[in-house]
Amino acid sequence: MAQIRLDKFISERTEYTRSQIKELAAKGMIRLDGAVVKKSDTKIDSESSEVEVCGQKIGTSRYKYILLNKPQGYVCSTDEKDGETVLKLIPPEIRTKGMFPAGRLDKDSIGALLITDDGELAHKMLSPKHHIPKIYIVKLARPFENNYINKFEKGIVLADGEACLPARLQKAKNSDRLAFVELYEGKYHQVKRMFAAVGNHVELLMRVSLGSLVLPEKLAIGECMELLHKDVENLFKGQDFEVFCSRYSAVFSANLINNHL
Ligand code: URA
Repeated sequence: MAQIRLDKFISERTEYTRSQIKELAAKGMIRLDGAVVKKSDTKIDSESSEVEVCGQKIGTSRYKYILLNKPQGYVCSTDEKDGETVLKLIPPEIRTKGMFPAGRLDKDSIGALLITDDGELAHKMLSPKHHIPKIYIVKLARPFENNYINKFEKGIVLADGEACLPARLQKAKNSDRLAFVELYEGKYHQVKRMFAAVGNHVELLMRVSLGSLVLPEKLAIGECMELLHKDVENLFKGQDFEVFCSRYSAVFSANLINNHL
């Protein structure tokens, strides 16, 4: 049994400071195993106690993993100087002090973004050794051409001469301007630059899958959800690109069309 003070437990897992936690407890906003607890220095069992702050359950895991469906206009940064950061979209009850976006989406891109305070996991996710497959759906300015598939599979050479790893590509079923692409790496503006190299232009990009994690249909743009540690471990497993496209083509095409076309 790991005994810990209630305020320490909450402050390690949220953005609240110990003095804010004291105030919330005094106002009856904190519950321990279902009952209001007014003293924030109460000792609790960090492994089995159920703690709620303002009606939001605080997980026992030391780290938080949040899947955000990123909207346009937000930057993947922790520094406000870069613009409105994606961290602003995380409710304070589930945001922690050390959180950062694990990976990047451009300011005008949308879709699946993992936000965590687990530096080890983020490092593993981003290291070239472990690079996990990511699937994007793109809206193109001009119709998709079948010759792109072979070019992407051979490895696109970008305008500056940089070579990309082979990538898989498939046209979405119900539009000649929507396509899915799967990458195992993450160069700057990579998808946009790959389509530019074959003479097309990406008008809108949405990341729809990270490893075996698929952006849930019910998670609207701008919304986020907490993931369990076991979901995050699944990130490192891939999935069959063709199966993914045939299963999700209709859902994500409609999603992109309804929200942005
Ligand atoms: N590739 C891009 O060009 N932009 C993104 O946001 C992600 C991948």
